[in-house]
Amino acid sequence: MKPRALVLTIMAVMVAGMLLCLYACSPPKPEPVRPVSIPDGEFDPKVWGQAYPLEYDLWKKTEAPKPPGKSKYKKGWDTDLVVYDKLSEFPFMALLFNGWGFGIEYNEPRGHHYMVIDQLEIDPSRLKAGGVCLSCKSFYAPKLEKEMGLDYFKLPYLDVHAKIPKEYQKYGVSCIDCHNNKTMALAITHPVAQRSFPLAGIDWEKATRQQMRSLVCAQCHVTYVINKDEKMNSVGLFFPYQGSKEGDISVENIIKVLKSDPLYLEWKQNVTGFKLGFIRHPEYEFFSRGGTHWQAGASCADCHMPYVRVGANKVSDHDVTSPLKTDLRACQQCHAETTQWLRDRVYSIQDRTVSLLNRAGYATAATAKLIEMAHKAQAEGKNIDKSLYDKAKDLYIEAFYRVNYMGAENSVGFHNPVEGMRILGDAVAMASKAEALLREALTKAGVAVPADVNLELAKYLNKRGVKPLNFKPELEFKDPFGIQEMLTPEASMGK
Ligand code: HEC
Ligand code: HEC
Ligand code: HEC
Ligand code: HEC
Repeated sequence: MKPRALVLTIMAVMVAGMLLCLYACSPPKPEPVRPVSIPDGEFDPKVWGQAYPLEYDLWKKTEAPKPPGKSKYKKGWDTDLVVYDKLSEFPFMALLFNGWGFGIEYNEPRGHHYMVIDQLEIDPSRLKAGGVCLSCKSFYAPKLEKEMGLDYFKLPYLDVHAKIPKEYQKYGVSCIDCHNNKTMALAITHPVAQRSFPLAGIDWEKATRQQMRSLVCAQCHVTYVINKDEKMNSVGLFFPYQGSKEGDISVENIIKVLKSDPLYLEWKQNVTGFKLGFIRHPEYEFFSRGGTHWQAGASCADCHMPYVRVGANKVSDHDVTSPLKTDLRACQQCHAETTQWLRDRVYSIQDRTVSLLNRAGYATAATAKLIEMAHKAQAEGKNIDKSLYDKAKDLYIEAFYRVNYMGAENSVGFHNPVEGMRILGDAVAMASKAEALLREALTKAGVAVPADVNLELAKYLNKRGVKPLNFKPELEFKDPFGIQEMLTPEASMGK
């Protein structure tokens, strides 16, 4: 090569290198706002996507199964295409929830794409409440609620679902649920959230950006009550936040609300015959009750929608999923520790939570069977001491709701580990106390109570529908007393 050509080549390589560096080394920029205006009331994510194609493409990815083996307890939707369900993971739930839909089919969550599809595929017993079930699923639900009034809540699910325009009938949470179409700022759009947040003094119209990065999720990832009329028709929907305040929505206050009105009790538990309320996915309540990350100012979006780089831009990852399934990248904005360290920390918190959840769950299930025994004895004319029974019943219901709460919360304790242990510890104490009172009452009535209460779990599990048991948790955390051994599902099923 001639010297001139060599110099030219070197220069060309340098220029190319500089250009590459300009592209790759410059800090990623936020996605430019495109001059496409999104009409008011536009539902179609495709139209929003014309203005914001990067977020749209990421949002579409919630449809894809996630790589398997990355999450221990929240397998949800791996590429093995198995639907994991809570009743096989926690067989005591099949006993406790027997009497309505949750005792028949109760699946682990998967990607946002599937929320309406999963309703259409689940056992129809789960949709008995009516159209109200669409509220935290379809982006069209707020419009139907406004237009249909009471009918929206109580008409059969499929009738209300049919009123959604065909092209939107399978869509889950979309741009319009979380964003203002003019400014793209985060927005609270669901009527149930608009009327419920103020119960806990949450002024969403004045909320900061960081608050909104949790509150948009809290439109759905919260517990709720479908209140009934005397004929058990659904007539309303709210979050049970009366008496609570932001950052302090305790399980105790939620239970207080559930107990405050018989019309908040949505179902009858078969084993005890008690009318009860139900607690669903209380992610926001649990996370925000003073845990480490809430105190540190973290929001749901920090861990579930971290910035990702797409080309030269950085955008919020709209493929919302478990941070374990994205190798804990989200955590590393704040934590310098390795992925392995962070994963081990998550697992150790979750193992301990599952261990105590099992202990509390089986203790509560055993108490339910003793209540059944007491009812049977009474029906046979034996005299069950009323004051012992009443105290036991109250403690049992308190334990039930705590087990229900921690079993429904989707982080398996991680969102607030210390609070989780507190709630489950109380549940164990309450169920054990109730058991002691019932044993005393039964013994006084001349009924012999076996040392080990037969839970008859196989009976309840077999009533749970046609799908096979898919999943048994590996409980690696061993406690020093060996109680864990007693409480694994296999052992308690008498296998
Ligand atoms: C579940 C709620 C949710 C849904 C659904 C949602 N977003 Fe977002 N979006 C967010 C959050 C949270 C942020 C971060 C906002 C912030 O930090 O201020 C965000 C940020 C954005 C931004 C700002 C730039 C960025 O990436 O941070 C754009 C643009 C955007 N979203 C577009 C969309 C589009 C288009 C859709 C529909 C395809 C959509 N979003 C659906 C919650 C949502
Ligand atoms: C309109 C209601 C709604 C909103 C708003 C919403 N979610 Fe969800 N989310 C759901 C439902 C319903 C599911 C379960 C879907 C299924 O299993 O079919 C779910 C599932 C999830 C999952 C499990 C995903 C997986 O891959 O297994 C995560 C994580 C999650 N949501 C986090 C969030 C976060 C964080 C926000 C706020 C940025 C948010 N969600 C906003 C309703 C919502
Ligand atoms: C500090 C990080 C962090 C914050 C903040 C956080 N989460 Fe999570 N979340 C996690 C981890 C870790 C898990 C456990 C995931 C697993 O086991 O796969 C999880 C699990 C979940 C799941 C179940 C995921 C699945 O795949 O089934 C949902 C739903 C969820 N979080 C919603 C929320 C909501 C809503 C908020 C805000 C109220 C929130 N999270 C705040 C870290 C966080
Ligand atoms: C917005 C910043 C932020 C994010 C994102 C974040 N953390 Fe943290 N985390 C903190 C702070 C601050 C503390 C408290 C100080 C400390 O211990 O370092 C903390 C504490 C912890 C602790 C010890 C305290 C406890 O509750 O047990 C663990 C474990 C932890 N984080 C894991 C994670 C994991 C796993 C993720 C991702 C899923 C994550 N963090 C995401 C800021 C963050």
